[in-house]
Parts: sequence; C-alpha cells; structure tokens
Amino acid sequence: MSETSEPFLARLKASALAIEACLADILREEPAAGETLRPAPLLAAMRHGLLNGGKRLRPFLVMESAAFLGGDRQAALRIGAALECVHSYSLVHDDLPAMDDDDLRRGQPTVHIAYGEANAILAGDSLLTLAFDIIAAPETPLADGQKIELVLALARAAGIGGMAGGQALDLAAENSTLDETEIVTLQAMKTGALIRFACEAGAIIAGSDDGQRKLMRSYGEKIGLAFQLADDLLDLTADAKTMGKATGKDAARGKGTLVSLRGQAWAESELTRLVEEAAALLAPFGDRADILNETARFVADRSH
Ligand code: IPE
Ligand code: IPE
Ligand code: MG
Ligand code: MG
Ligand code: MG
Repeated sequence: MSETSEPFLARLKASALAIEACLADILREEPAAGETLRPAPLLAAMRHGLLNGGKRLRPFLVMESAAFLGGDRQAALRIGAALECVHSYSLVHDDLPAMDDDDLRRGQPTVHIAYGEANAILAGDSLLTLAFDIIAAPETPLADGQKIELVLALARAAGIGGMAGGQALDLAAENSTLDETEIVTLQAMKTGALIRFACEAGAIIAGSDDGQRKLMRSYGEKIGLAFQLADDLLDLTADAKTMGKATGKDAARGKGTLVSLRGQAWAESELTRLVEEAAALLAPFGDRADILNETARFVADRSH
C-alpha cells in the first residue's frame, strides 16, 4: 500500500488542533449555563482523559465526511468534538481494573492511575453526558431536527447495541472461544459503531439524502472493521512506546481477535481488501473522494 502523503498528515494535524481547541474551551473551569459548579478533581480527570494526545481520527472522519457532502465546517467540528468525548470516555472505562486493567494510555498514566478509580468512572460518565450537551447546545449551528437525528444515531452507536454492548461481548469472550462471525460482530459493535457514526454524521450535517447517508454508513463500516483489525495487529507487532499504550495484551488476556484466529498474513490481506471495498463504494465520486480514500488507507496502514 502507498505511503500516507504529507498534505494528508498536515490536514489530519490541523483538524486535531481545531478539535483540541474546541474541547479545551468546553472543558473550562467556569460552569456552563444551568450548571452549579465544576469540581476540580473531576474536571482534571476529564481533561486528562480528553486532552492528552490521541489521533483524533473520529472527529477527522466527521469533518471530512461533512466536507465531502458539503456540510458546514463549524457544525462538523462540534459534532466531531462530541464524538471524541464518547470515544475518550470509552477508553477511560476500557482501561479500568474491572475491564482491561491498563496503566498507560496515549503515552500517559491512565485516568484511574492518575486520579483514582472513582474519578475515572465519573470522568467517563461526565464525558458521555457532555457529548449530548455539545450536540444539543445553541453553539452547534444545526437545525433542531438534525440535532435530534445526531442524538439518536450517537446514542444507538454508543449504547447496548453498539460500543458498550461490544465491550460486554469482548469481556465475555475472555472466557470463551469465538468464531470469525462472532468476532466480526463484536468488533463492528465495540469499535465499528462509533466510526460508522462518524461517517454517517457527515451526511446528517450536510442534510444529505438517504442514499448518501447509506453510502457513508457502508464506508464507515469498512473502515471501522479495518481500524480494529489494525489495532489487533499492532497489539501483536508494535511496542508500547510507539503505541502510547501497553501491547501484547490481547494474547495475554485471551481476547478473541481475528489475528489470533486467522493469523497475521491473513489480517494484512484482509486490510487491503477492506480498503479496496471502501474505494469501490466511493468510485462514482472520482477524485472528490480522494481524502476519504486516503483516510481508509491511513486507517489500515497506520503504525500507531
Ligand atoms: C483506540 O482507539 C481504541 C480502539 C477502538 C482500538 P484509537 O487508536 O483511535 O485511540 P486514540 O484516540 O488515538 O488514542
Ligand atoms: C477498545 O478496544 C475499544 C473501545 C470501545 C474502547 P481495545 O481494548 O482493543 O482498545 P485498546 O487496545 O485498549 O486501545
Ligand atoms: Mg478492551
Ligand atoms: Mg483496551
Ligand atoms: Mg487493542
């Protein structure tokens, strides 16, 4: 597969900086209208979980999907920020002792190591709630109907039938052996659902028709699967310094992954196949889809 281009990396970086500025402003000390006060240790734990590093891939996908379909950039930035809150919450809870029990995340101590378990649980709760606050807030320049569609789609992507449900299947699988179909379902839920939402959100922001919305969902499904497959490969092949998190943990904990079931060579060819399928979906758009195609390659090729 081809190298990720410099202009693409610059674009990813610029969008990450914009998202981080937006998130830092939202996590300010002053309470928002209707809030009483923001307890300092909880705010510090939330800032640690949200602002300390991260590739910001999901907000990038929201922004690029919206741009592809002609959606408003500021609206996409706010929805991307909301999604990053849900994603970061999922990581804070994923790392808890009751779940993957990890000490390192984004190159820093995990939130429960830095601020204690209770603050990590509450920081996750508050980040999840904040996501829906950001969507509904008057600062998000979308029609009420679009906000309701985004709330519904994000709730379904994050909850029992999406990310949280997938996390439950992932933990249950530590004590059983899953077949390929079961692993694909688990991964489509725990990781795929939020990535699919990112792409579908672009269509909602742009006010696209059902056909375009469905297309973006399908594109999101392909790269969502590719993303977790790459994560599982990197868990096996990369080191903790590069990843900013512990590696070699999936095998140690007996996680059911496609890499453990089918092997590394198969996983690498499957990644190529998923990128080609994503490109085939976007082929009718010609070079207008260049960035979304490069994003699919980046997801599959990533080194961290
Ligand atoms: C890690 O996600 C968790 C998975 C779903 C595999 P990322 O690799 O996007 O983590 P950050 O946000 O860049 O830290
Ligand atoms: C986590 O999957 C997916 C989430 C919903 C957070 P992993 O447990 O593989 O993610 P890492 O490897 O800890 O980032
Ligand atoms: Mg996990
Ligand atoms: Mg984990
Ligand atoms: Mg992993």
